[in-house]
Amino acid sequence: MPERIHEVTTFLAELLAPRAPLTVIVDGGDHGAAATFASRLAAAFPPSARAWTVDAVLGLSGPAGGLSDSALNVLEPAADRVIVYLRSGPRGRTLGNGEGERRAQVVIDHHDPQWPVIRHVHPRLADPERWYLTESRAFFAARAAGWDAKFGDDLPAYAQAIETAAPRPGDLALDVGCGTGRALPALAAAVGPKGRVIGLDLTPAMLQAARDAGRGECAELLIADARRLPLPDAVAGLVFAAGLVQHLPDPGAGLTELARVTRDDGRLMIFHPSGRAALAARHGRTLRPDEPLNRENLEPLMAGSGWRLLRYDDAEDHFLALAERQ
Ligand SMILES: C[S@@+](CC[C@H](N)C(=O)[O-])C[C@H]1O[C@@H](n2cnc3c(N)ncnc32)[C@H](O)[C@@H]1O
Repeated sequence: MPERIHEVTTFLAELLAPRAPLTVIVDGGDHGAAATFASRLAAAFPPSARAWTVDAVLGLSGPAGGLSDSALNVLEPAADRVIVYLRSGPRGRTLGNGEGERRAQVVIDHHDPQWPVIRHVHPRLADPERWYLTESRAFFAARAAGWDAKFGDDLPAYAQAIETAAPRPGDLALDVGCGTGRALPALAAAVGPKGRVIGLDLTPAMLQAARDAGRGECAELLIADARRLPLPDAVAGLVFAAGLVQHLPDPGAGLTELARVTRDDGRLMIFHPSGRAALAARHGRTLRPDEPLNRENLEPLMAGSGWRLLRYDDAEDHFLALAERQ
């Protein structure tokens, strides 16, 4: 199997080489990571394209591992410049509030330097169809085995959210992006023996972990992409989506697809077992106004995709947005 770094740098080189002349700047990452990544990226370019530069801008750690600014303080993206940001732990952060990442056209999860994963490519550089599926699977596959051990204590919060969503006995309930299936037992209990639950996820390793945890006994498990669900129109009474919508490259299109499979009297519950600010802080950043789950953004997104927002809670210990079909 080719190394992950090789897959990522080969893809980026294919994407960027036709845009020459161009400067590629690699920022972020733990100490030394940007330089290493930049040299691997440079090596992936065809020799004819290497006349131009791949620079590493190293984030300098302040005293006692404190945060400091990088050269990106003075750099903004430009037509002849692409910024690649390596997302890592707090030590590697070059700008404390996520600004370094915000400026980048390519964001790479680099918490494990042996397993870099592309998390964002500006749509002007590449259609998500070229990278989203492979990279999302790589990202979540690496986390599947440890998922429940890490987040297992959240189950009561899921049960509470499903009680709030109140699917009816006999309903078909979908858990889209079900991961290891933490919501499936509570969904199955809510729809009862006459109901049906389907957990869908695009990462096979996540569904395997769901099976290993015995969650295949209360739900069917399907490998599927939320953007193209293998289901007919208007079948579901409830669509549950925890930790999904913010990962979709086009959240509005994703919500439209969720609406397509939902009955006219059906509901959507978007959930996370921590508030948005707490989640952002865990990832070393602050909330940005352009995030799709901001209420000001979500309400029009929902209205444009066949939903009407009924309830929106962004508390410390949970996030939920409940909507009905409109
Ligand atoms: C943050 S995890 C949440 C998992 C689970 N819902 C939970 O709360 O524990 C996001 C899940 O969504 C899945 N996912 C991401 N994009 C998806 C897509 N387009 N279609 C289906 N599943 C997707 C990932 O594979 C991953 O299992």
